[in-house]
Amino acid sequence: MTELERLTFPSADFSRVPYGVFTDPANFEREQERVFRGPVWCYVGLEVEVPNPGDFLVSYLGATQIVLVRDGDGKLGGFVNRCAHRGTQLVRATKGNARDFTCVYHQWSYDLNGNLTGIPFRRGLHGVAGMPADFDMSQHGLRRLRVESYRGVVFATLSPATEPLVDYLDTPMRAVFDRIFARPIEILGYSRQRIPANWKLYLENLRDPYHAGLLHQFSTVYGLFRATEKGGTIMDKKRRHEIHFSVHGSDRAADTADHYTKTTFYDRTQGTLGYPEIFSFIDEPGRGGKASDFMSIFPNAVFQQLANSLATRQVRPRKVDEYDLYWTYFGYADDPPAIRAKRLEQANLVGPAGFSSMEDGEVGALVQRGVAWEGDAHSIVMMGGVGPIEDQPTTLTEMPIRGFWRFYSELMGLTVEEPR
Ligand code: FES
Ligand SMILES: [Fe+2]
Repeated sequence: MTELERLTFPSADFSRVPYGVFTDPANFEREQERVFRGPVWCYVGLEVEVPNPGDFLVSYLGATQIVLVRDGDGKLGGFVNRCAHRGTQLVRATKGNARDFTCVYHQWSYDLNGNLTGIPFRRGLHGVAGMPADFDMSQHGLRRLRVESYRGVVFATLSPATEPLVDYLDTPMRAVFDRIFARPIEILGYSRQRIPANWKLYLENLRDPYHAGLLHQFSTVYGLFRATEKGGTIMDKKRRHEIHFSVHGSDRAADTADHYTKTTFYDRTQGTLGYPEIFSFIDEPGRGGKASDFMSIFPNAVFQQLANSLATRQVRPRKVDEYDLYWTYFGYADDPPAIRAKRLEQANLVGPAGFSSMEDGEVGALVQRGVAWEGDAHSIVMMGGVGPIEDQPTTLTEMPIRGFWRFYSELMGLTVEEPR
């Protein structure tokens, strides 16, 4: 039996997850075909990053590097970043503007739609050599992607079977996009970090609000997010995407006292915050006091409103035990200066060294270390209940993680053993 065949989920409700999904290189390879090149939409960028004809940026579908480009007619498209001749990486800049793309190796060139338009010495020299007379340039363009966007958020897929993007996102997720991207946005900056862990540990983490009021002690102690606050989780019909939120300052002092003050973590005597404004939240239209609102879209994206910071996060798997996390911070083009300043300031809450997100990368690395030789053992994902996977009126839940695995295992063709 191969390692991959041994990878089974022991219970049909996905409340236990085999650690081999994080450690098995064959599973990682299968993911590239079945997940990232399969019938899903991967988030690749924002329209505002490629506003003009010829604008392009390099992005990823899983480990596959792709190029998102706006053509001469202003339409978005994209292709795998691989020359059709002998496979060279075609575009080497991370972003820019181009009239066409020319490969460095033998200078085959392509238009903005990925059509092969030029082959040096195609007819040889003085009638000698050259490409075969019947070589059909129209059959040798770049490998094209399907690209669609919703509210200026751009997704791509390589599969002809992927449903339309609006259906893939489903109703509750579209409502969040409708709210976050209701006004024209402006990019404020980027950051990226390399994390020595399997990429799915991050997607689990983002579907796990249970940890948020425990692991992130800085925000728990100083009051940006506590499990005792009002909150909840919302999923799409297929339970593959997830939103969770909490309402700032909505908890009762008695609950906080009961559940936090007795723990050693919740110790304000360790120090006082010299700049408490870092956590202050200015409510904005449509947010209804929700200081944190996180939306994970299967398989690779997170859209975040944390206090007044806004960001997208894209997961870029590299190896079975390594991924890059790519952050794009934004605000609204018409932001008043005070809000803009607040967004920039609160960008410090997230990112590689963020006051309330640094730990998420670190715990992934710790899990990877813990399970390195434990592929046959399983995790326990039962907080919030077992059985049916439902929305929850609390952040004390891991249920959306089970939704992730249910959809993932279907795509991957991994088997499920019924509980014994
Ligand atoms: S590999 Fe690109 S032109 Fe030869
Ligand atoms: Fe977290």
